Amino acid sequence: MLMQAIHAKIKEINNIKVSYLDEGPAGTPIILFIHGFPLNKTMWSAQIEELKSTYRVIAYDVRGHGNTEIGTVDFSIELFVEDLIRFMDALKIEKVTLCGLSMGGYIALNAALSFPKRFESLVLCDTNCVADLPEVVEKRMNTIQNIKKEGLQNYADESIKNLFSPLSVRKGISEVASVKNMVLGTSEPTIFRTLYALANRKETCSRLSEIQLPTLIMVGKDDKITPPAAAEHIRKRITNATLIILEGAGHLSNMENPRQFNQNLIAHIPKINSALESEKSRG
Ligand code: MLT
Repeated sequence: MLMQAIHAKIKEINNIKVSYLDEGPAGTPIILFIHGFPLNKTMWSAQIEELKSTYRVIAYDVRGHGNTEIGTVDFSIELFVEDLIRFMDALKIEKVTLCGLSMGGYIALNAALSFPKRFESLVLCDTNCVADLPEVVEKRMNTIQNIKKEGLQNYADESIKNLFSPLSVRKGISEVASVKNMVLGTSEPTIFRTLYALANRKETCSRLSEIQLPTLIMVGKDDKITPPAAAEHIRKRITNATLIILEGAGHLSNMENPRQFNQNLIAHIPKINSALESEKSRG
């Protein structure tokens, strides 16, 4: 949270002010991070801290989350993709390595399918390509009703059990408390609008063979929400994809096993400095 308070910047796009972190030297390859639900850009602290001496690293708050404004319209994955592309345009960035976790992965997959030329490579973490089954939609709608009745505390407590591996919860790693604060700090309207967006999202599995970008897929071995089998399902359908299963991690693999996560991420980032070329060509 401290990092967010000190370094956050603001860009206005699509009638909302977007809060983001932008660290590291200009002219180096750019990695753009998209967080999961209902979290915010600070979930990438361990990646930003390690990568920022070598790469330009950008993490933004998705509409309504963290310190980004909610706006006045209903949410959808398509709207989140539009926000992402307009955000890149506003920063005059032509191409990035796009790294998304869970909901961030849904946004990344849709963005890669709709705007393949805007990405150098993809990193898909703890995510899936299927649409919600009817029972998952029902669960999301029940969550909305429960929060309306009881507020966010119980939802935050339950979320922690699902997001982290039992080991991380037992060890009481500091990330558990910070994620709980992220959940409690997200407004109820944002949670409701995002739950509708997630419930209404379309599957992308049938289009994955269109993706030609080098793709790294990472997943926590103990991820209960999007388990390794979901990651393997994606790997088989993307031509140029590698799958890494991270030990000692649940759904928030970048926070639970940052060492292995960062090693694999750094090994994946394209070494060619086309980021600089593309920044130059946009003037
Ligand atoms: C997330 O971590 O972004 C959520 O678990 C995604 C979802 O609920 O589908």
